[in-house]
Amino acid sequence: MDRLKGRVALITGSGSGMGRATARLFSKEGATVAVSDIDERGGNETVAAVRAEGGVASFFRCDVTKGVEVKATVDAIIAKYGRIDIVHSHVGGDIGPADTVVEDSEEDWERLMNLNIKSHFLVTKSVIPHMIRQGGGAIIITITTNAFMNYRHVQAYGTTKSALIQLTKSLAMDYAENNIRVNALAPGEILTPLWEKHFNAHPNPAEAKEAVRRKIPIGRIGTAEEVASCALFFASDDARYVTGNILFVDGGLMAGFYDPS
Ligand SMILES: NC(=O)c1ccc[n+]([C@@H]2O[C@H](COP(=O)([O-])OP(=O)(O)OC[C@H]3O[C@@H](n4cnc5c(N)ncnc54)[C@H](O)[C@@H]3O)[C@@H](O)[C@H]2O)c1
Repeated sequence: MDRLKGRVALITGSGSGMGRATARLFSKEGATVAVSDIDERGGNETVAAVRAEGGVASFFRCDVTKGVEVKATVDAIIAKYGRIDIVHSHVGGDIGPADTVVEDSEEDWERLMNLNIKSHFLVTKSVIPHMIRQGGGAIIITITTNAFMNYRHVQAYGTTKSALIQLTKSLAMDYAENNIRVNALAPGEILTPLWEKHFNAHPNPAEAKEAVRRKIPIGRIGTAEEVASCALFFASDDARYVTGNILFVDGGLMAGFYDPS
């Protein structure tokens, strides 16, 4: 239970879903957690959950698409806790059910470029100088299986997320000499508020869910906790020789074109 003892972890987008599950797990493993999100209510709920489980956490409101806010957040965490050892740069989002080149507006496209690409540039840019000064750190970026094998009508989501493959690998090469490891998670279908929203927007939510489930060799949609445990691996010394790596957390989705019949 002490794999992150004495470490300070910043988790962006931890006011919900996988980010929240990761905050709780990192805390159980001994980390002090800086919970960050644009959603103040969700962020405070995560802090309350961590504290109720005996952990140490504080909320730092931040829009990760804004460089000034990201820098101020990182500075505030350093002022409060003195260091940042782990960063899980997790925030990301999509456009909606009709994400095609013709349907998407220029504003949609720019919003997603900022949310899914620029935000990770800003977070890592602000944190890495502190990690260099401290003598090392671990960074985890959340990508998605859509960056490798996409569906129809999710083009901007898949396109923007695919840029993070190279961001992860470039960061890993550029800062290995500073003892900073950079890895990424590529979750498949994980039941979080993001997916619930999609299912509930469908005329038949149960049918929509079943259509997703059938594509997964393990035979079920994943949980936020199952992604969090992989983030823990990358964050901990168990992964001390692992950098520039992308781990599919997808129940076998990326193994091939699976048909249970
Ligand atoms: N749910 C899935 O099946 C799935 C699969 C693959 C990858 N992902 C990725 O996981 C990440 C989060 O997904 P989730 O399912 O946990 O979603 P979620 O909606 O439950 O959580 C996203 C969090 O990010 C926050 N956020 C949104 N915009 C922000 C901003 N500008 N600044 C700061 N915080 C902001 C939201 O308030 C929310 O708390 C995304 O990067 C997503 O692409 C999700």
